Amino acid sequence: MKLAIIPGDGIGREVMEAELTVLDALCLDEERILFQIGYGKWERTKSAITDEDIAGIKECNCVLFGAITTPPDPDYRSVLVRLRKELDLYANIRPFTPLKTVKLPCAKTFDFVIVRENTEGMYSGIEELHKDAAYTTRIITRNGCQRIAERACSLAKERKKQITIVHKANVLKSDTLFRDICIDVAKKNGILYRETLVDTMAYEMILHPEKFDVIVTTNLFGDILSDEAAAIAGGLGLCPSANIGDHHALFEPIHGSAPDIAGKGIANPIAAILSLKMMLEWSGKIKEARSIESAIDSVLASRIKTHDLGGTYTTMEVAKAIAELVLDKNKN
Ligand code: NAI
Ligand code: MG
Repeated sequence: MKLAIIPGDGIGREVMEAELTVLDALCLDEERILFQIGYGKWERTKSAITDEDIAGIKECNCVLFGAITTPPDPDYRSVLVRLRKELDLYANIRPFTPLKTVKLPCAKTFDFVIVRENTEGMYSGIEELHKDAAYTTRIITRNGCQRIAERACSLAKERKKQITIVHKANVLKSDTLFRDICIDVAKKNGILYRETLVDTMAYEMILHPEKFDVIVTTNLFGDILSDEAAAIAGGLGLCPSANIGDHHALFEPIHGSAPDIAGKGIANPIAAILSLKMMLEWSGKIKEARSIESAIDSVLASRIKTHDLGGTYTTMEVAKAIAELVLDKNKN
């Protein structure tokens, strides 16, 4: 397997080093191609990613991604948004299954997945910036809705056979299309559905997270709701994601480059390591994926954890502890 490795910026580089340490422990025969793209490259060259980079990434089977800084600068275009479009990674799958050993801020237990449309909506990239007004075009297409709804339903078939459609169709007319298509697809697939307005969802997720299983929503809503979900699942440092298309896939923690802690070696590597686990599941390496999951549980149970979880260990100390257990497991 040919893997594109994109460490990116800030803690992206630190958690990628950690992730690759665990990948080393699996002793697979993958080929790794490094792409040094992102804000750092933009500062050096005024280009965060080139067409050549995109072509190289497309030649790989999949991508392991750290995190990339996106400054609020009108001249800078998000690298990740571009990659998601160029590779047509239309489904962003974000599982929120709390780890056994992590203390949650809420009393209730839960296990849900956010299926976020990943290529259109408010992240269409069609924007106009004038002196006294600015416009962003929100794009919702039949094809975009259809394929994300199909993804959500096929995931629901493996789980509780129900989806929650999250939208704002009472105000945003573009969301009536999203809502109607999701309902059609759910009916055709024999999946139970209910719908919730996004603001109500933000509230319900805190009070009753146990009510949800597969949640399907548009790009910006999915982005915001998944950081909220991370807060109730123990923190951004624990939450992975898979960006899936028909021909490519990219695996990344849901967090960003965290400039407030970058360079200190204290970022939690578990979100990135769980993203590696999602990549292994995607490529059919189920035994290896399980070994990562159980190693993480054991390491956290022995109180080897980073600052955000109340520990004192560094990013690499946690990663090496996980890697050692993974190595042992795969030797036996
Ligand atoms: P962020 O996710 O980087 O950080 C939010 C908060 O969570 C910070 O306090 C940070 O210290 C903490 N945090 C995040 N990951 C952590 C980890 N692994 N361990 C411990 N604590 C962790 O979001 P923020 O600060 O809003 O964005 C920073 C930069 O990252 C921005 O330029 C933003 O555009 C970019 N970004 C990139 C993403 C990506 O590449 N996928 C996703 C989100 C933001
Ligand atoms: Mg986000």
